[in-house]
Amino acid sequence: MSPLDKRLLLVTGKGGVGKTTVAAALGLAATRRGKRVILCELGEQERLTALFGSTLADETERELAPGLFGVTVDPDRTKEEWLRYQLKSDTLAGLLGGSRVFQYLTAAAPGLTELVSMGKVWDLAQLERRTEGAVYDLAIVDAPATGHGLAMLSAPSTYAGVARVGPIRRQAEIIDAFVRDRDSTGVLAVTLPEEIPVNETIDLEARLRDELAMRLDAVVVNAVHPQRFTAADARRLEGIDGRGSDEARAAVRSALSEERLARAERSQAARLRRASRAKLLTLPFVVEPELGLEELERLARILERRL
Ligand SMILES: Nc1ncnc2c1ncn2[C@@H]1O[C@H](COP(=O)(O)OP(=O)(O)O)[C@@H](O)[C@H]1O
Ligand SMILES: [Mg+2]
Repeated sequence: MSPLDKRLLLVTGKGGVGKTTVAAALGLAATRRGKRVILCELGEQERLTALFGSTLADETERELAPGLFGVTVDPDRTKEEWLRYQLKSDTLAGLLGGSRVFQYLTAAAPGLTELVSMGKVWDLAQLERRTEGAVYDLAIVDAPATGHGLAMLSAPSTYAGVARVGPIRRQAEIIDAFVRDRDSTGVLAVTLPEEIPVNETIDLEARLRDELAMRLDAVVVNAVHPQRFTAADARRLEGIDGRGSDEARAAVRSALSEERLARAERSQAARLRRASRAKLLTLPFVVEPELGLEELERLARILERRL
């Protein structure tokens, strides 16, 4: 099943690998299939909406491109709202003005931020929204660092186990079932063709399997440099390195260094392919100082073909 046909897609990976870019391109790819999509950015990065030239980053759901909507969710604020709501009929309510009480509650309930963020994201993917928001075919979440992504996915089952009775347990169970249903929720990792992010991706897949009995749907190897030379051409270039005019030598050196980079990237991608059971796809390195809508569309077309 294509990840684009699920209802919720979590995009995760190490910071700086192109998560936000890929999440946006995935969103565009899904709209090309006629879907109504919402991109959800967690935290106050505001990068996602900026990619589409939008500067507003409050929690309203706004249209960024035809059929593509965006929302920024601040996990801390979401948790605070949730606590206020949960405790509003309680005697504790009066105490909630003080942030010390929030700090106490948060310390007493590790993973609460992730649970509540997951609840918000889950709601975006529902055909009947709790919050009376618009309905989407697909919600794509630009998750924070890899560890946060895992913490979000595991929070519902942790809470379902901890809260023995009551509405929190029921809610956590519903979200957990949705997250574990492979037709509903997908997880996609983004990596660069470099050693450390590749290691982290392999580790993520293992932890998803061992800790959550979940699978990684796909891995996007992002910003791959093209292979311009055959092995024979590369050897020939190595042979002429050091000869000719300054300009010619500089050109050969730069060609050789690009060839070495491309070769190193291919070997990292191959290592990932051997270690992973997920579908692997690559996106090219886009030579533009600033990635705009045109470049995103280009990446989206590649993703749409492959997913
Ligand atoms: N395929 C690509 N080619 C060239 N530059 C890219 C590509 N993908 C991402 N970038 C650039 O890399 C930087 C980090 O990307 P971003 O999507 O913000 O990463 P993350 O969300 O993982 O931190 C940005 O400047 C972005 O424009
Ligand atoms: Mg980002």
